[in-house]
Amino acid sequence: MTTNFVLLSLVALSVAFLASAFEPSPLQDFCVADATTSARVNGQPCKNPSSVGAADFSFSGLHIPGNTSNPNGSRVTPVSVAQLPGLNTLGISMVRIDYAPWGINPPHTHPRATEILTVIEGSLQVGFVTSNPDNNLITKTLQKGDVFVFPIGLIHFQRNVGTKNAVAIAALSSQNPGVITIANAVFGSEPKISSDVLTKAFQVEPSIVQKLQATF
Ligand SMILES: *[C@@H]1O[C@H](CO)[C@@H](O)[C@H](O)[C@H]1NC(C)=O
Ligand SMILES: *[C@@H]1O[C@H](CO)[C@@H](O)[C@H](O)[C@H]1NC(C)=O
Repeated sequence: MTTNFVLLSLVALSVAFLASAFEPSPLQDFCVADATTSARVNGQPCKNPSSVGAADFSFSGLHIPGNTSNPNGSRVTPVSVAQLPGLNTLGISMVRIDYAPWGINPPHTHPRATEILTVIEGSLQVGFVTSNPDNNLITKTLQKGDVFVFPIGLIHFQRNVGTKNAVAIAALSSQNPGVITIANAVFGSEPKISSDVLTKAFQVEPSIVQKLQATF
């Protein structure tokens, strides 16, 4: 009896903990983000529904290729709440990703979203790494029309493995998924993480850490 109660409480607690990682369910039809107020809330305050129109629920331009002339050889065009205010409180958003031949979308995580991606053009090697202690790489080469899911929080990447441009469209389970690009966060933080921390963490010479910190 007591054991059952303790077990049930533990299950209830863990469910409550998991649930708190996701965006809350809307309590109204919509809450179009009001970019003009200075109120600070979790998400964005709502526009007056009487002044809301189709423009608040639409975005144009995802047919336009992103500029991939950068060291990654890729470009992410986001359609999050910042670009489409009607996404506020709805727990969903999307991106277009363009890749030059052999371009990469470098290892990164979305702290607030699972991502489901489909290849529209070209072929991509994609992958994610499971959490400690396994750190198992789950990877696959996708062709046009293939779909892959990156579970919330896990480090993932994509690489164009073709000699032509590639294009992907992805949906994310947050209005504001957030991005942590691993190399930039670890070696490009401001102020820098002490090189003593990074030389021990990566088991390399201080000169290598200094070189990476200078790059990012
Ligand atoms: C793409 O970006 C590069 C580097 O920033 C820039 O030089 C180039 O003009 C851009 N191309 C277009 C078409 O905007
Ligand atoms: C590569 O892309 C990431 C994510 O868009 C960006 O943060 C980073 O600065 C880029 N790295 C380089 C070397 O351009």
